Amino acid sequence: MTKAFALEPIEKASVDELRALQLQRLRGTLQHAQAHSPAYTAKFRAAGVDAADLTSLDDLARFPFTVKTDLRDHYPFGFFAVPRQQCVRIHASSGTTGKPTVVGYTQRDIDTWAHLMARSIRAGGARPGDLVHISYGYGLFTGGLGAHYGAERLGLTVVPFGGGQTERQVQLITDFKPDLIMVTPSYMLAIADEFERQGLDPRSSSLRVGIFGAEPWTHDMRLAIQQRLNLTAVDIYGLSEVMGPGVANECIETQDGPTLWEDHFYPEIIDPDTGRVLPDGEFGELVLTSLSKEALPIIRYRTRDLTRLLPGTARTMRRMEKITGRSDDMMIVRGVNVFPTQIEELILKRAELAAHYQCILRKEGPLDALTVAVEVRVGLEPDAPAAQSAANGLAHDIKAYIGTSAEVELRPVGGVERSQGKAKRVVDLRRAPA
Ligand code: DLL
Repeated sequence: MTKAFALEPIEKASVDELRALQLQRLRGTLQHAQAHSPAYTAKFRAAGVDAADLTSLDDLARFPFTVKTDLRDHYPFGFFAVPRQQCVRIHASSGTTGKPTVVGYTQRDIDTWAHLMARSIRAGGARPGDLVHISYGYGLFTGGLGAHYGAERLGLTVVPFGGGQTERQVQLITDFKPDLIMVTPSYMLAIADEFERQGLDPRSSSLRVGIFGAEPWTHDMRLAIQQRLNLTAVDIYGLSEVMGPGVANECIETQDGPTLWEDHFYPEIIDPDTGRVLPDGEFGELVLTSLSKEALPIIRYRTRDLTRLLPGTARTMRRMEKITGRSDDMMIVRGVNVFPTQIEELILKRAELAAHYQCILRKEGPLDALTVAVEVRVGLEPDAPAAQSAANGLAHDIKAYIGTSAEVELRPVGGVERSQGKAKRVVDLRRAPA
């Protein structure tokens, strides 16, 4: 086994060792942020806290949260804790409205990120000599370059395809015979469709492992992708504000939720309404604190992602449960909370339907109305009796299991916009001008 493929000692460290390292790094991070990031200096002062007061990991709960708008309010570089000239890279995530969220990296940050991405790809099942096809977008999005640097660091052969040009993706996957693919799960499905359109069986491709993330996807979606492409699908989690992909990655031997790389990030779960820290195992919003970042130390960042912390299995570090959804994506339909992933689970139970769907919200008078636009499977027409009965069944399931009425609108194959990156699952027309 080459050195890059061996487990690092910290991946096997005891929980006590890990907590000691976290405390030491957390102290350093708080001091660094307080001393060098003008935004954190002001935030800590306003909250009446001082980095020097932290003596245990639990003390972190006394420090203020950071939210996305904090970063936007200090656009573009106000949160940085090093002069911009010391940053070797900038990324940004485009919000749906307004200014992007800008993040920066020193050379050491880029090295740490490459290291954690290499660790993630190895945990995901890469083997020495593998070839990896990267279909995450390159550019300001952290997916492509994050995956790229990690895969190179691990010593794999990298095909830096990026998103889009689906026909050519299929051609190169067929010709280059990659062992791994890194892509959003929704775009993986679009690539599988393209295989079939070209008369090729996606199950016969060379792909052995897919490392999928950047958007919520259910366990049923995992099973559907594995079945359709004859590969093992593992989950990769991350967000640009905290680093990019590789904050957590699922281990292929257990496939039981991403392992959080706790030597570099300290996780908490909070009640999203009160901000109270919840014990491990309880469900709430994931809050992350970086433990080693230089350019943009991030303290108690509210991810808006809903999950819970679970004990380590394949590693000592804790896992997070597969994310059910983002609080931003939660739809409130006539008072009932609905996540697109709940709808996804119900769609995937019906063989007549394909996993290409969108939830469309409208106002009908004073009331919310939810339409689920979903494609029929290849070979079926929307007006076929089997399709109609699947639509009625789905509407019934949504009412029975989620508790809200929904109209199901069947679309022909290709009738729902294909993602080339993150799928847009919710289209909210409620506030659109009439
Ligand atoms: O999506 C980074 C990334 C790239 C992760 C490639 C994995 C693979 P952002 O664009 O800042 O960064 O979006 C971050 O995407 O807060 C989650 O809501 C969602 N997300 C990311 N990974 C997962 C996942 C990248 N595995 C936001 N499951 C996060 C569910 C995910 N949601």
